[in-house]
Amino acid sequence: MIHNFFTLVTRHWLSLLGLVIAVVGAVLMAMLFVMELSGFDGGPYLGILTYMVLPMVLVTGLVLIPVGVMRKRKLEARAAAAHQAPPRLPLIDLNDERTRGVVLVSLVVGLIAAVVLAAATYRGVKEMETVAFCGTTCHTVMQPEHTAFLRSPHSRLTCANCHIGTGADWFVKSKLSGSWQLIAVALKIYPTPIPSPVHNLRPARETCEQCHWPTKHVGDRLQVRSKFADDETNTESKTVILMKVGGQQGSTSSGIHWHVDPGVKIRYLTDRTRQKVYDIEHTAPDGKVKLYKTDDKPDGPTEWRAMDCVDCHNRPSHTFKMPAQELDAAMGDGRIDKKLPFIKREGLRVLQASYASHEEAREGIAREIEKFYKDKYPAVSSGQAGAVAAAGKALGDMYTWNVFPKMKVTWGTYPNNLGHSDEAPGCYRCHDKRHSTAQGDKIGRNCKTCHAVLAEDEPDPEILKKLKP
Ligand code: HEC
Ligand code: HEC
Ligand code: HEC
Ligand code: HEC
Ligand code: HEC
Repeated sequence: MIHNFFTLVTRHWLSLLGLVIAVVGAVLMAMLFVMELSGFDGGPYLGILTYMVLPMVLVTGLVLIPVGVMRKRKLEARAAAAHQAPPRLPLIDLNDERTRGVVLVSLVVGLIAAVVLAAATYRGVKEMETVAFCGTTCHTVMQPEHTAFLRSPHSRLTCANCHIGTGADWFVKSKLSGSWQLIAVALKIYPTPIPSPVHNLRPARETCEQCHWPTKHVGDRLQVRSKFADDETNTESKTVILMKVGGQQGSTSSGIHWHVDPGVKIRYLTDRTRQKVYDIEHTAPDGKVKLYKTDDKPDGPTEWRAMDCVDCHNRPSHTFKMPAQELDAAMGDGRIDKKLPFIKREGLRVLQASYASHEEAREGIAREIEKFYKDKYPAVSSGQAGAVAAAGKALGDMYTWNVFPKMKVTWGTYPNNLGHSDEAPGCYRCHDKRHSTAQGDKIGRNCKTCHAVLAEDEPDPEILKKLKP
């Protein structure tokens, strides 16, 4: 069988060439693949070689083989028709001195060519990684996510922890899409802003749950948040909520993490951005199915998605905030002096203006803030020049963390689904009292289902005094 195959493919020079090309391609591919799997970091361009160029070489070789075989058949048929002996491959007679010389020279030249080619490829790969090409283009593309990642609780992870995970099959899948992305970047045909990848993001079971298991989050979680009003004194108020995170305890689940109990299955029909939810299907552990529907009709493509961690925690690592959230946080922790008159109002104003680049934004924001105090509060401008300058700088930071003009990422481009607000409906995509079953069951929107609001926008909540020892 193997012998037959061998004679078949080596009888015509085209199929012989195809065989050599295919074998060389396959061997190189396997070598690079093993090198990468064993930890050699060849960088993204080696990926292009391994996963795009070499496979093409392999396929070219494989295509040549049958072409040669067919050619040979045709020649044989023609020879048979003319009653001639079938054509043969050229005879290499190593007893002939001239032939020996040609064979030897060909071998040496071939070997040198192979070594030079390999070295050149390697240099080329290394070179491309360092040139400004990648440093600038790639950096712009991933800058929003990279910036947010560095500020997240996951900043010690690698991108691969969530976007790739472990195992060879996902390694290859990610390399394939990664190679395509690089080409898209080189040709500047990537979308701005980059859409969320959830449909080809690995299931949370195999990423998040490698580090966080659903049974671990049990119980309530207290959250205290400060907010500042847009009046002259930036009046402070506090909201205290007790989140019923819940989770699996023994054989039952409760609270918010009930959704990720292994026995609970929820699927939903949604648009590409997952901001609109049409049908919701809940299958209980006993197999009973409840289908909730709304009257809304989709106006674009939809798909079913099984709910997991990232349907609520859709921004575990790339959390882009809204201007008011950033300002409240900075005024709460002292990066911005909350005694500066109207700083909340003015901060919101300068953050929401538009700028062409980060540099322009930093400059424009600092200038506007200084100008405001100089014009309206000269005493503050001269007496607290340090606080005014610090506020200008902190506001510039906030802008560069959340807005990326080159990638068309601005306030609210990537909504956070972990809650409910005017910008992002989050839980209210389903918990909206509008989805109902044929029997009229609705998904609850009772405030107490998810949290106890112990104080809402109070200047000095009683509950916090009680909690203090
Ligand atoms: C803790 C897990 C986690 C880590 C770590 C992580 N990501 Fe993500 N990333 C996600 C999830 C989940 C989404 C999908 C968000 C959605 O569906 O809205 C995403 C989306 C993205 C997107 C699509 C655009 C967007 O913001 O939705 C890009 C680009 C991206 N990540 C790049 C990166 C880069 C670069 C790193 C490393 C610097 C990284 N990610 C690290 C979980 C992670
Ligand atoms: C490689 C391990 C790892 C993976 C994978 C991972 N995380 Fe984490 N996660 C951590 C660590 C470590 C922390 C920080 C814990 C801390 O600061 O106490 C964290 C923190 C968090 C927090 C914040 C907890 C808090 O105190 O506010 C959330 C929420 C979270 N992870 C969700 C996710 C989700 C959702 C995914 C999947 C998209 C994920 N994680 C993937 C390790 C991981
Ligand atoms: C139905 C929405 C929802 C789903 C699904 C969900 N979470 Fe959460 N999770 C929340 C909310 C809400 C909080 C509380 C956030 C807060 O306190 O601000 C939370 C809190 C957390 C925390 C920090 C709280 C703690 O007690 O340490 C971690 C870690 C976490 N989730 C991980 C996960 C992981 C892993 C999954 C998937 C197995 C998951 N979550 C699925 C909504 C969800
Ligand atoms: C994709 C739709 C969907 C989203 C999004 C969603 N939920 Fe739910 N949730 C459901 C369904 C369905 C039920 C079950 C309702 C029923 O059958 O009574 C449920 C039930 C609950 C329950 C009651 C669990 C129990 O013990 O019975 C809580 C608490 C809850 N959700 C919290 C949240 C929070 C918090 C968020 C946002 C962070 C959220 N949900 C987002 C669909 C959703
Ligand atoms: C389906 C679950 C769910 C329901 C129902 C729900 N909430 Fe919430 N709510 C959340 C989650 C989750 C967060 C926390 C978001 C976060 O961590 O930032 C939140 C946050 C809040 C906050 C704090 C927001 C902030 O500015 O920090 C307030 C106030 C609030 N909810 C009020 C209400 C009221 C009032 C109701 C009843 C009409 C209600 N919620 C119903 C899930 C729910």
